[in-house]
Amino acid sequence: MRVPDIIMKKRDGGELSPEEIFFLIDGMVSGDVPDYQMSAFCMAVYFQGMTPAETAALTLAMARSGEIVDLSAIRGTKVDKHSTGGVGDTTTLVLAPMVAATGVPVAKMSGRGLGHTGGTLDKLESIPGMRVSLSEEEFIEQVNRIGIAIVGQTEDVAPADKILYALRDVTATVESIPLIAASIMSKKLATGADAIVLDVKTGTGAFMHDLSQAEALAGLMVDIGRMARRKMAAVISDMNQPLGHGVGNTLEVIEAVQTLAGEKRGRLFDLCLELGARMVVMGGAESSIEAARARLNDVVDSGAALEKLREMVVAQGGDPAYIDDPRRLPVAPYSEYITAPCSGYVASVDAMTLGKAAMSMGAGRARKEDSVDLECGLVTLVSIGDPVEQGQPVAKLYASSTSLLTEGLSVAAKAYTYSAEPIEPPPLVYRIIES
Ligand code: URA
Ligand code: CA
Repeated sequence: MRVPDIIMKKRDGGELSPEEIFFLIDGMVSGDVPDYQMSAFCMAVYFQGMTPAETAALTLAMARSGEIVDLSAIRGTKVDKHSTGGVGDTTTLVLAPMVAATGVPVAKMSGRGLGHTGGTLDKLESIPGMRVSLSEEEFIEQVNRIGIAIVGQTEDVAPADKILYALRDVTATVESIPLIAASIMSKKLATGADAIVLDVKTGTGAFMHDLSQAEALAGLMVDIGRMARRKMAAVISDMNQPLGHGVGNTLEVIEAVQTLAGEKRGRLFDLCLELGARMVVMGGAESSIEAARARLNDVVDSGAALEKLREMVVAQGGDPAYIDDPRRLPVAPYSEYITAPCSGYVASVDAMTLGKAAMSMGAGRARKEDSVDLECGLVTLVSIGDPVEQGQPVAKLYASSTSLLTEGLSVAAKAYTYSAEPIEPPPLVYRIIES
């Protein structure tokens, strides 16, 4: 096999064999296939696409490029959830303890935030003392003991994805449905879950701006997972406006704790019920979605879900006082409101713009090695469709300096637009794919 022939075949719209795809990925990881050939290959895929069989082969080749985490020492059906990334999206921190409180083991490996989207690990690290890197033995022991652990993905998982993602990022080939599907599913297949619930976002703040693309991505990932004998479900959810109210690491942790405590209801909680109900059914704790939803409501009302988060924080070295009273978590010292310039209805709370506003104040990373300011961010006080009066606060921003605050305010204000006529809010969930 010759790499130029494989690139040419894809360029001309042919279908690659699994052998050709494995040859390419193995060569890339060993260093035999240089970046310029992989870049040309990615661009050929960007324009020609891939068949489901090719995408499945690419996914497997990437999954097998590194360590395969073996979770068989954990009792029960291990259920994982993956979100394609959003703004104000703290689902993992709410959902994982809820599901674990029903008795389904949650062994979760998460990532850090990149670009305008937040990452679970950064959020967890805003709890003082919290450790997110455990050895595989510690991880498995903790899940068997308390039913939950959330840790960073080890460096050895799917190294092919790290190489390929870095190349895609600088060659304008990130937005390719087969490449995104293979990237996400390779990591999921390598980290050992028996069942996977996907939260595929669509809207201005998501990778997939329109619904048909999100549906195609979700359907492809579900098919790949099933081919690999995983139980799969996907929820396609809205990311035109932030999911929760907080955007920024500490602010999102505060909201997650309040949601688990049952003090806060809304889109974040509702989506956690939808995703969580599928995890509970696939994990075998309930036999119907309705029963699973009721059970999840119960574990929040009884305090069991919040207690599960507390147990996890203690197990991973964090200070539980911050779970008992999340308002003790330090937030950035300078704050200011954005107010509505007119009376009417909120027409947009643009997720991408608010994500960028939080980033401009230091909440996100432009590059993997950048550090983040955990304490800055914003809280949106209104949602699309809400009536507002002129002068009413619509958002509160927090920053570590007045100049950063000014910068954030100028970006965030553009996220809000208004209409004199009533506005229909977008649905929270567009579609659910399940077996
Ligand atoms: N998330 C991933 O892990 N990979 C992609 O390609 C896009 C989103
Ligand atoms: Ca997330």
